[in-house]
Amino acid sequence: MGTPAMAATGNASPGDEATRDALVGRLFEAALGAFDLAALHVGERLGLYAALAGGPLAAGELAAATGTAPRYVREWLEQQAVTGILAVDDADAGGDERRYSLPDGHREVLLDPESLAFMAPVARAMMGITAQIPRLLDVFRSGAGLSWEAYGADIREAAASMNRPLFSNLLGPEWLASIPEVDARLRSDPPARVADIAVGGGWSAIAMARAYPKIRVDGLDRDPGSIELARANLATTEVADRVTFAVRDAADPGLTGLYDLATIFEAVHDFSQPVAVLHAVRNLLAPGASLLVADERVAERFTAPGDPVERFQYGWSLLLCLPNGLAEDPSVGTGTVMRPDVLRQYATDAGFSRVDVLPIEADFWRFYRLVP
Ligand SMILES: C[S@@+](CC[C@H](N)C(=O)[O-])C[C@H]1O[C@@H](n2cnc3c(N)ncnc32)[C@H](O)[C@@H]1O
Repeated sequence: MGTPAMAATGNASPGDEATRDALVGRLFEAALGAFDLAALHVGERLGLYAALAGGPLAAGELAAATGTAPRYVREWLEQQAVTGILAVDDADAGGDERRYSLPDGHREVLLDPESLAFMAPVARAMMGITAQIPRLLDVFRSGAGLSWEAYGADIREAAASMNRPLFSNLLGPEWLASIPEVDARLRSDPPARVADIAVGGGWSAIAMARAYPKIRVDGLDRDPGSIELARANLATTEVADRVTFAVRDAADPGLTGLYDLATIFEAVHDFSQPVAVLHAVRNLLAPGASLLVADERVAERFTAPGDPVERFQYGWSLLLCLPNGLAEDPSVGTGTVMRPDVLRQYATDAGFSRVDVLPIEADFWRFYRLVP
């Protein structure tokens, strides 16, 4: 395959040439990044990193341990070493004898699902999105959407795995603990009931039940595959007697229950009908209860060029969240870049009297408390 023209020739002026070459360099770096993510995904899905966690291996040994073909594995190992993810233990050995190892500092990033440094699911999400490019081209033309279900297991699992460390490490001890009335209610009697709306893979509900030993949590999601995943995740924990998961559309005005807290993590921007969902959830709140929403920490208003967080969120929006939101008709078509004013308007339209932005520090999320 070819390489980009690093010093392209043409009719550009010197100023234009600098701009042109900066873009060429940037896109070349992006191509390297795309290869890194794709190769990382291969290593994760085939269990290559997990096998290397046991110690240095040569291509044949790694292939035998993972049921893969030695020639492909040798190429993968060489690519991983050249790109700096794996270390070569004996660089002078021949290709088949050379042994490769996983640097200690890289283990957590690639293999620890509870670590805030875990990045493997980002690669899986990127591959899950790019697998849908042909269908995305179609919906860009037609204006139709692409449902969460249609994106499939990679996206569903990646989304759950990306947020799992945040929930496991921060949701109870930092985020909920920083809201005194909520924290106090979750610790008191009678045991509080929490509704976790659009619960996805269930890790938020599980984390809340772990952080607060008295509470009961009901998680709901419209996507049957997500609820199946949430139930499987719950079965690996010790809180299965206090957490339930159900397939429900959160916009259903017939939802019933009386909850001391409701939560919606990273999902309001995905709803086709956010006002209908917020209205239905408002009706589930017991007197004195409120709704905690966490959604993307995007800028207050459109600014271009944007910072890395804004660029990241527009990437998700373009290729996942907006098509997902448009999968239902009618849809307001919010997209990932939901500005705080937009959420405030949804909340007001749903009958909430107050929206507080909470002083919780998080790189990618902003926290809102909606008071009926
Ligand atoms: C980005 S995922 C977030 C999942 C989870 N809260 C988390 O943080 O991992 C968005 C979720 O919203 C769910 N969803 C979208 N519209 C919904 C609706 N009307 N009712 C229930 N769930 C919905 C999707 O099925 C998906 O699981």
